[in-house]
Amino acid sequence: MTREPILSAKDIEIEFTLRGKVLKAIRRCSIDLYEGETLAIVGESGSGKSVFTKSFMGMLDANGRITGGSIMYEGVDISKYKTEKEWLGIRGKKISMVMQDPMTSLNPLKKIGKQIQESIELNQGIHGEEAKRLAIDMMGRVGIIDPERRANQYPHEFSGGMRQRVVIAIACACKPHILICDEPTTALDVTIQAQILDLIRGLQRDLKMTVIYITHDLGVVANVADRVAVMYAGQIVEYGTAEEIFYYPWHPYTWALLSALPQLGVKGQPLPTIDGTPPNLFNEVKGDAFAPRNKQALAIDFEEEPPFFRVSDTHQAKTWYLDPRAPKVEHPAAILQLREKMKKGR
Ligand SMILES: Nc1ncnc2c1ncn2[C@@H]1O[C@H](COP(=O)(O)OP(=O)(O)O)[C@@H](O)[C@H]1O
Ligand SMILES: [Mg+2]
Repeated sequence: MTREPILSAKDIEIEFTLRGKVLKAIRRCSIDLYEGETLAIVGESGSGKSVFTKSFMGMLDANGRITGGSIMYEGVDISKYKTEKEWLGIRGKKISMVMQDPMTSLNPLKKIGKQIQESIELNQGIHGEEAKRLAIDMMGRVGIIDPERRANQYPHEFSGGMRQRVVIAIACACKPHILICDEPTTALDVTIQAQILDLIRGLQRDLKMTVIYITHDLGVVANVADRVAVMYAGQIVEYGTAEEIFYYPWHPYTWALLSALPQLGVKGQPLPTIDGTPPNLFNEVKGDAFAPRNKQALAIDFEEEPPFFRVSDTHQAKTWYLDPRAPKVEHPAAILQLREKMKKGR
């Protein structure tokens, strides 16, 4: 890919201090984001998806800080921003976020229309009646029927799915350059999930946004993403086009995630789960962080951290399996089976 990325995070390190101890949540993590794409970030809960992407907006919790690396956006290293004033030029204007639970983003005591209006007033410098009209427009645009009437209602009068539509309206009202969707459908049931995905796709096309879609569920990724980055223990361990990650994955953690997909399940039998737990990030991680959970780990996996190895122009994986000196490792049967199934399903 010779295109220039619109956002480039390089070797980002993030630490939290908790009761005097330091937790390294993000460990030299890099990603490039390209104009107009949908990039999915997948990984188990706790792998660092939210913390990593919140750092693009200056939204880390007060006990957290970026301790290394850079985030280049429009020619500026925004990881060096110190003040709220600097971040206000980015957050809600250039980069917006939709979070998992709409109730955490909405004020239960304020009318829906007012909340959208206030966000427009804050971020776009438009005020009063004009901002109100834009808010109602936006409600219609995210699929809320009868927006004039519903603008006068409170969050508790909306269903979970409708509340998430409101949050999306607030995030998109400023027509952001980059929209980060952090598990936006996790709290919703499956049919609503599909509608919200459709809505995000439609808005992305109409408003020409670039989307980062965060999920722990590889199952939805096939439907939304152009590219996929797999995250484990504070690092991205593999990235490629959606096809490359589903058909030709290389990192043993990606294999484990894919093997647990319901598409591979046999009716009536429980899905395989990934044995073991991620490393404790209060301690220094040695070698490949996934090695202790990998039955086919190589000796070097316990000693030395692997670099990224190139699979194609668009695909890289951080595993010693790809070192030319490594013994030949067969892809698990489940991965080959998945490739066949998905190819047939197209
Ligand atoms: N404010 C905080 N203080 C201490 N640790 C935190 C804080 N926020 C997140 N973490 C830790 O950072 C790691 C990554 O968390 P997170 O990004 O929320 O994971 P994910 O979104 O992938 O589920 C976890 O180990 C989590 O416990
Ligand atoms: Mg999260």
